[in-house]
Amino acid sequence: MSVINTQPPRPAVEPSPPPPILRGDPITGNRYTSRDFMALEWERMWTRVWHIGGWAADLPQPGDYITHAIGQESILMVRQEDGSVAAFYNVCPHRGNRLVHGDLGHAKVFTCSYHSWQFDRAGTTCRVQDPDDFPQGNPCGKVRLSAIKCEVWGGFVWFNMDPNAPPLRQFLDPVAPQFDKYSMDGQVRVLYLTAEVNCNWKIIHDNFNESYHLPTLHPELSTFIEDAYQDTMFDLYASGHNRMRMKGGLPSLRAHSVTDVAQPLDDILRTWDLDPTSFQGHARDARQALQQQKRRLGTGRGFAHYDLLDDDQLTDYHHYTLFPNVSLTMSADGFQLLRPQPHPTDPEKCIFDHWFMVPVVPGQTEAMTPVGPRPLAEAEHEIFKHGEQTLGFVADQDLSIAVGQQLGLRSRGFKDAYLTGQESRVRRFHEMINDYIEGRR
Ligand code: FES
Ligand SMILES: [Fe+2]
Repeated sequence: MSVINTQPPRPAVEPSPPPPILRGDPITGNRYTSRDFMALEWERMWTRVWHIGGWAADLPQPGDYITHAIGQESILMVRQEDGSVAAFYNVCPHRGNRLVHGDLGHAKVFTCSYHSWQFDRAGTTCRVQDPDDFPQGNPCGKVRLSAIKCEVWGGFVWFNMDPNAPPLRQFLDPVAPQFDKYSMDGQVRVLYLTAEVNCNWKIIHDNFNESYHLPTLHPELSTFIEDAYQDTMFDLYASGHNRMRMKGGLPSLRAHSVTDVAQPLDDILRTWDLDPTSFQGHARDARQALQQQKRRLGTGRGFAHYDLLDDDQLTDYHHYTLFPNVSLTMSADGFQLLRPQPHPTDPEKCIFDHWFMVPVVPGQTEAMTPVGPRPLAEAEHEIFKHGEQTLGFVADQDLSIAVGQQLGLRSRGFKDAYLTGQESRVRRFHEMINDYIEGRR
């Protein structure tokens, strides 16, 4: 039985901010191939920005830990007795051995595999062999793992290697509050994929910074997602983070037919007890009808989190590119993380993460993910090389150009990108990188 929701419509959509002034810095091929440029990115950018280190649900109890590799560093994050999470460089302060091997686990103390120094959960040395044999004094209680900034927000554990970094929410200004309605805390990571890809990390993030490629790489989306730039909102913030508000639940202005209901919009409508034939001839009205129906029926079907969302968020995709390398696509029924990270040594490779998180809906045991249905439970980590298994239909389409673009960007014949207005987020992304490496940030 459905419950009538008496809330008034909530169509509120805030306007886009004034666009930043772009300098027009050239986007040259060496940015994607050069070891010198890779080293500059590491020294001046990666070591100064906030990173997602993992999924907080992996750390429910004090002593639970995760590790995360970024560049040639490994970061250890440990749940503390007071519920906070502390982060350390994953290195033993005795003689520099890697302290923890493996992705995650639980520990009362961390024991180095070389001379068995032990560290408590707060990173303080608590036991050593021959404590009386140190001319500088017993290291216990004195020598610590090297700590870095760590915060938990949005269901993620974040870290920053810069001791002078601003707090996370300040770094995420102004987008952090925009995420709050999606209740990311408490969602379940039902897909957890990591692939090594033969392209520079920026090729993948460039792709997530524009929707100009949709008609070419994802033509089938136009039957239920707006991919025309004229009807899409692009928000570029001074902080370097971006949002694209893309309508869903209607055929695109670019679609083969803007008036007829095609697959899968017909199935979406039927799921919400709407008759697809009643929208033939005016299919773009389906979006608002879906919003109203989800508002009416959602709570009764267990989608309590719909109550927090604005009407547009019930159908639309709010796609964020957070500087420098996190892409989050928010929808009413789950959110997706797509993240290319730099390879430890090779500028022409990267490490690509694809996670999908869904709200817990009572009675549901399965979740629909970008690779099809998966159990509604925390997923195992699948690690592979690009091409060995699917990264999801749409991500596979995106990555289908990555290797070819890497080849082209190596060419002496490529001088600079020639961008559309709707690719301004690509330009802005590269100018932000330049701001870091040229000392303006
Ligand atoms: S290097 Fe870790 S105990 Fe010696
Ligand atoms: Fe794409």
